Amino acid sequence: MKTRITELFGIEHPIVQGGMHYVGLADLAASVSNAGGLGLITALTLGSPEALAKEIARCRDMTDRPFGVNLSLLPAINAVNYPAYVKAIIDGGVRIVETAGNNPASLMPLFKEAGVKVIHKCTSVKHALKAEAVGCDAVSVDGFECGGHPGQDDVPNMILLPRAAEELKIPFIASGGMADGRSLVAALALGADGVNMGTRFMVTKEAKVHDNVKKAILAATELDTRLILRPLRNTERVLNNPAVERVIATEKRLGDTITFEDVRADVAGVYPKIMLEGDLDAGAWSCGMVVGLINDIPSVAELINRTMAQAEAIITKRLTGMLTA
Ligand SMILES: Cc1cc2nc3c(=O)[nH]c(=O)nc-3n(C[C@H](O)[C@H](O)[C@H](O)COP(=O)(O)O)c2cc1C
Repeated sequence: MKTRITELFGIEHPIVQGGMHYVGLADLAASVSNAGGLGLITALTLGSPEALAKEIARCRDMTDRPFGVNLSLLPAINAVNYPAYVKAIIDGGVRIVETAGNNPASLMPLFKEAGVKVIHKCTSVKHALKAEAVGCDAVSVDGFECGGHPGQDDVPNMILLPRAAEELKIPFIASGGMADGRSLVAALALGADGVNMGTRFMVTKEAKVHDNVKKAILAATELDTRLILRPLRNTERVLNNPAVERVIATEKRLGDTITFEDVRADVAGVYPKIMLEGDLDAGAWSCGMVVGLINDIPSVAELINRTMAQAEAIITKRLTGMLTA
């Protein structure tokens, strides 16, 4: 399939694996790129620019196809030396970056000078237009359904994607709720040039997360995610668990007086325990509503190939059949 996104990134299929803390490591990114999609290493998981440089080298050993790096600009608990991360990305020969969480304007001159293509992930048309204005090459539009940070507007992709298509000139991909060929065709129909999948890629053979995480996702339904941290304007969609219920109870109890310290124990620094050790209730972890559509643990290549085959069948058989019937 050829879209503006496959052309922009030099990839075979319009499928991107979103940056995911403690999930998007070189093994997963290389597998996605080898299968014809675009894999992304999640920079801040590595903890330092030096460790990121090593992870980029490890990824390059596993694939000769294009891959990228996700650089999250969300408010972080500890200050992040972004120029040093950008240097590691550029020196490592990576030419695609996904930014997210905040306006990437201050880093754009560094990226542009090095010929890096920037896809900015955002949750509103307003921020997508801002990304276009500051020189991003593409955007990833994250709807209300998405795992991670859906923003504050609560607009689902059925509305957000066609609105983005009405306003944007640069290519964009649909993010949030994408699971298979049905999602891909729907996203294309709504004006997107491809899809970004997060939660779905967590449940693949190559994702190096603990089996408990994969099993929890297989067992969950579309009713099992919750939104937390909204009073702190850092809304996150997570899979429900006792830690999440504690956070929600604290939010209700403290209302507008809540501070980060009141929930810190359940949300900060919990990913290693959850993703690596499988201690699922150690805290809150991001997960999209798309869990309701995830029922198996395929290899990345199986997932991408069947997504493309299903999309093609929907377009050429189901939809074309309706026109010719
Ligand atoms: C476990 C997990 C961790 C994530 N971590 C990040 C991150 O560090 N940076 C980022 O930009 N997005 C992060 N995301 C968001 C994903 O990249 C992607 O935008 C989102 O998962 C799309 O929605 P979906 O889960 O419905 O596919 C994370 C998502 C999940 C599920």
